[in-house]
Order: sequence, then C-alpha cells, then structure tokens
Amino acid sequence: MRNRKRSYNFISVILVFLMVSIWFYFDQEQQTKSIQIGVSLYLENDTFVEKILSAMEQEALNYEEETGVNVILNVSVANGSQRTQNEQVKRYVEMGYDAICVNLVDRTNAAAIVDLGVFEGEDVPIVFFNREPVAEDIMRRDMVYYVGSDAKQSAVLQGQAVVECYQNYPKLMDKNGDGVLQYVMLEGEMGHQDAIMRSDYSLQTIVNMGVPLHKLASETADWNRKRASDLMEQWIESYGDDIELVLCNNDDMALGALDILSKTSIKAAVFGIDATDVGIQALDEGALWATVDCNSKEQGQAVLRIAADLAMKGSLSDKLELTQQRYVRVPLIKKISTSLG
Ligand code: BGC
Repeated sequence: MRNRKRSYNFISVILVFLMVSIWFYFDQEQQTKSIQIGVSLYLENDTFVEKILSAMEQEALNYEEETGVNVILNVSVANGSQRTQNEQVKRYVEMGYDAICVNLVDRTNAAAIVDLGVFEGEDVPIVFFNREPVAEDIMRRDMVYYVGSDAKQSAVLQGQAVVECYQNYPKLMDKNGDGVLQYVMLEGEMGHQDAIMRSDYSLQTIVNMGVPLHKLASETADWNRKRASDLMEQWIESYGDDIELVLCNNDDMALGALDILSKTSIKAAVFGIDATDVGIQALDEGALWATVDCNSKEQGQAVLRIAADLAMKGSLSDKLELTQQRYVRVPLIKKISTSLG
C-alpha cells in the first residue's frame, strides 16, 4: 500500500515536471517567434516615403505568413530633427529592438546612428533607406545596409522621357517654334542625393540627346507640393507663356506646378519622378507628361526583408541582390502618359 502511494507521488512529480518543461518550451518558442523593428522617418506626410512605409507594413504581414514569425513595426517621426532621430534610435536600441530602419534626416550625418546601434558589444542591424548616407558611414561596422534607387538612373530616364515626348509632340512642347525648350526646374531638398543627381543628369541627358534647352528659372521647393505651387505662381508672373517645360525632381512638386497651371490658360509640359498614386492619376489624366517609377514597393519589401532576416538569422537570404555588399538598388521604369496630344 505504502509502495503504491510512493509510486503515485513519483508519477505526479514526473507529470508536473513534464508539464512545466512543455510550457517552458512553448514559451521560449513564442518568444523567438516575434521580432520588433523600429522605424524612424525624417518627416511626416512625405508622399513617397509613406508609400515605402506601406510596402514595409505589407511585407511584414507576408513575412509573418511565410515564416510564422510575428513582425512588430513601431514607427516614429523625427520631424526634420537629427537630434530627435538619434534619440529615437537610442531608445529602440535600449528597449532591445531586433533591427532598426532609418530614413535619415541629415544624410551626411549617419555615423552617430551607426554607433548608437552597438549595444552591450552586439551589432543591432540598421537599414537606412531613401536618404542615402555617405559610404564611409555605412561601412563603419557590420549589419548596416542601404536600400534606395539609383539617383542618376532616375534622372537619365526623366531626360529620355522629355526627348521622347519632344520627338512625338514637337509643336505641343516647343510652343514658340524656336527649336529650343524654355524650361523651369523645381528641385528637391538641397544636399539630398536624389535632388543633386536629378537636377544635373536630367538636363545633361536632354542636351546630349540633341534637344537644346534654355533655363528661365530653377529653385528648390524641398520636395513639397505647396512650395512648388508658390514658386510656379511667381514664375508664371515673370515668364507667362514662355514656359514650355517644367522639370521636377519629384511628383509632388510636379503636382504643385500643375495646381497653378490648371488655374491659367498656359500649357506647359510637366515631368516628375516617383510614380506616387497621385502622380499616376495625373499621368492617366494627361496632366503630368511623364514620371519615373522609383519602385517604392520593392524598396519597402527589401528594407523589411533585410531587417527581419538579420534579426532572425544574422544573415541575408540569397534572393536579395546586393551591390557593393551593402546596397540594394531597385529597378526603375519611365512612364509616359498615353493621354497626351
Ligand atoms: C523622392 C521624394 C521624397 C524624398 C524624401 C526622394 O527620393 O523622390 O519624393 O520626398 O525622396 O527623401
């Protein structure tokens, strides 16, 4: 009788032990099946950056479906302050986030963020996107990557689109028939790699392809639709119908120019870059002559994949095509309106 009781006790102990082990095992499993990714954006309401972010959110869901890993994205906005952004990154690191994605405020100043991402001797993965740090900052340590588009290529494609339209509609574009296109240019934020390259190379491409240009005015409108429409209003007052071509470093500024042009009887050919939803709508309506699709979807997908893979495995999947070991540059496509003429 006593022996029987003893063996019951023994079995109970074993059962409790097994249950605790199973609970512990599943709890551990649960813990590794969830990763936290911090995102810091340079500004709120940037149409193109918002599009990249939506693609990241969608890709987080895809990743979860494919791998069973729950990806938690926490997004903060730096409101144009590098100091605020550094604090946000520091907080993510201290809270034990598994990876951090940064849309830099000041692209010349990424070293501090790269260094902040080393916690208790461990490299926290950092993926910069859209606003490209200088190469030395990316190479400062392991686990630092950049995703973006090739700024020069976007400019060349814009230039080619202008020339193609000129060949197809010479009279519509060259209104005074002098064989030269009188242009104004709305430039992006000063110091931004895309603004610098797009301003230079779109002009160079047009001229090299044999279409002479004459500059009426050019100025930065900081990627911003309202600022672009204010500048365009001034230029219309100064140059009126002489404006034949409006070259814009992004779609939002092209839309700003169109906001004003549509209130006048002046016809000018307006070109953007990005292929945002509003940009594509204007293209379909024939208001925007052409844009360059900078593939926000693939950009967002790549940012999320790099962050999640590094967080989960410490290495990247073979599917990702890297250039110079640390860069993903997405393919771009020029899009010309089919509603012109
Ligand atoms: C886009 C702009 C955007 C900027 C923000 C550029 O690549 O073309 O639309 O405002 O990035 O950094």
